[in-house]
Amino acid sequence: MDSSRNPKSEAWLRYAHELGLGPFHLDRPPRSASEPETAAQRSSPPVSFDLQGPATSSSSVLASSILGGRSLPGGQVGFSSDHASPRSSGVFTTEGISQRVSPNPLPPSLFEERIENDSLERIRTDIGPSCNRCKLHKARTNIVFGVGNPKAELVFVGEGPGHDEDVQAEPFVGRAGKLLTQMIEAMGLRRPDVYICNVVKCRPPENRLPEKDEITTCSPYLVRQLDVIKPKVICCLGACSAQTLLNTTQGISRYRGAWFDYRGAKLIATYHPAYLLRNPAAKGEVWKDLQKIMALLGLQPLKKK
Ligand code: URA
Repeated sequence: MDSSRNPKSEAWLRYAHELGLGPFHLDRPPRSASEPETAAQRSSPPVSFDLQGPATSSSSVLASSILGGRSLPGGQVGFSSDHASPRSSGVFTTEGISQRVSPNPLPPSLFEERIENDSLERIRTDIGPSCNRCKLHKARTNIVFGVGNPKAELVFVGEGPGHDEDVQAEPFVGRAGKLLTQMIEAMGLRRPDVYICNVVKCRPPENRLPEKDEITTCSPYLVRQLDVIKPKVICCLGACSAQTLLNTTQGISRYRGAWFDYRGAKLIATYHPAYLLRNPAAKGEVWKDLQKIMALLGLQPLKKK
């Protein structure tokens, strides 16, 4: 059976990917045009972010040793084409869990060094108004660069724009975006306080996952955005951004909630809000992760009225 042509199989693969059970394969052919769902559409109705979830009392920061005690080179973005041999190494901890991340011997990239006098405007200009560096340009309406405070202490990184984001040229404005806004507000912040962007700046058609070549082409702009903003904390929303920035093919559930060093920032991965819309029971885990970020940034949770 060609699962890429079967919406149910595709949905299952995406679900498995979010659970960290993948990857089963990397270069995913486009979905059939008949599949109607977008990132926003596939989610269940909006639900408020549950502050009463099983929150941790400990908001202790579990500073992990990353990849053998050195920072991940953010320029080393992209996925391994060799799933059989994990790439990065080093032990890190989540609460009570000790995991080994695989080795990381990618060749040096252009973006290991920071670009002098770089700015968000310059990055936007470099991308250009009609970027056609990858095949995502063919179906997009707008390039979705990123939005928020250019000096934010906290940056959220998603995978790629969905339908609503493509139309409005702003990340996380659909149903998953509304949940992200609630999460941000639950942390005692407002949306304009943080910066929000994606790994790929153009919508993958039919809401498929961004493909390896698209991520390789577009993620250097993400790395530059992060270098310019210099946040204290980067929160990866879902497996795509976590795998890209951590340069791993391992599933997010292996390292969700653990701290990593990333080019001078602390990086943490948590589940994607679209996943939470389909699996509200996972909100408690995400709230624990957000509490860790709050502890690191000295934020107080929103008081209930
Ligand atoms: N999902 C993402 O990963 N990014 C968006 O901007 C919207 C939905």
